[in-house]
Amino acid sequence: MMETDLSALEASALRRIEGAQTPEELEAVRVEVLGRRGALAAISKNIGKLAPEERVRVGRLLNSAKEALEAAFERRKKEFEWQALEQRLQQEWLDLTLPAPGPRPGSLHPVTQIQMEIEDLFTSLGFAVLDGPEVETEYHNFDALNIPATHPARDAQDTFWLTDGNLLRTHTSPVQVRGMERFGPPLRMIAPGRVFRNEEVDASHEHTFYQLEGMMIDREVSVAHLIYFMKTLLAGIFKRDVTVRLRPGFFPFVEPGFELDIHCLICGGDGCPVCKQSGWVELLPCGLVHPNVLRMSGIDPEEWNGFAFGLGLTRLAMMRYGIDDIRYLQSGDLRVLRQF
Ligand code: DAH
Repeated sequence: MMETDLSALEASALRRIEGAQTPEELEAVRVEVLGRRGALAAISKNIGKLAPEERVRVGRLLNSAKEALEAAFERRKKEFEWQALEQRLQQEWLDLTLPAPGPRPGSLHPVTQIQMEIEDLFTSLGFAVLDGPEVETEYHNFDALNIPATHPARDAQDTFWLTDGNLLRTHTSPVQVRGMERFGPPLRMIAPGRVFRNEEVDASHEHTFYQLEGMMIDREVSVAHLIYFMKTLLAGIFKRDVTVRLRPGFFPFVEPGFELDIHCLICGGDGCPVCKQSGWVELLPCGLVHPNVLRMSGIDPEEWNGFAFGLGLTRLAMMRYGIDDIRYLQSGDLRVLRQF
């Protein structure tokens, strides 16, 4: 009796193991048949009631059924594992022969490129490249440049004042003062750098932009020297003829002072937002250094004189590359920067 039960159980369990469609289904069969409270365990409990010679025979049959079912179970389980692995391999493969995206080469910001070119040009003419602090004293930014507290020119430059009485420099001219203090005459220097103005931002105004200051002090420096250097500078930058005009300009630190304008290269002189529809762009204010400025930095104006200029580096980059909105330059937008 027990033997027929056993072989029927074995045969049906084998079919269910082989026919299991999911690992869960397989596990359910295992628990039901091979588990501690399963069908085989139930049979083995009853073996004790059999006669001794029966007991041995049924015991053997029980063991072989158990082994056969366990082996079948393991086989089926392996099959499920392979299936799962196969599925993952189908889904998760990578084509290692595809070209890698790789690092994109960076490039120098257009303002940096122009700055470096001008530095090269002026070093070849014997000028030193100086650096000055962006947080300046009121003295260096204004007083030493002949702009006393009562002077209306202070209002013209909308200054970011700091709570300690210092300020963010509104121009690179304070580096002239630092250059004169440090080296004395004769002096040939340029000072590129970042400047700050508390301005309404639009297509041609930024609160942060770049200038390049220049100064030459020697004996008997004249407007002719100034014009020579300015022409050399512009020819070096544009590598083509640009139309320029010189107008009288007022800056407290120079006398006489000039505005050197260039024909707008964005619109060709027809008028656009960058040149404020005038066709001309103020690019290069300059002049002969005011005697007060020399005197305040300890240089005798009877013996020495010089010229100075303040080039709008940011504006120059816009002219050269045809950028019609100053805001692009500080945007950090890679679509803009990758073009240079
Ligand atoms: N510092 C002036 C400004 O930012 C520009 C300037 C004008 C600089 C005349 C000069 C100069 O050196 O001679 O508005």
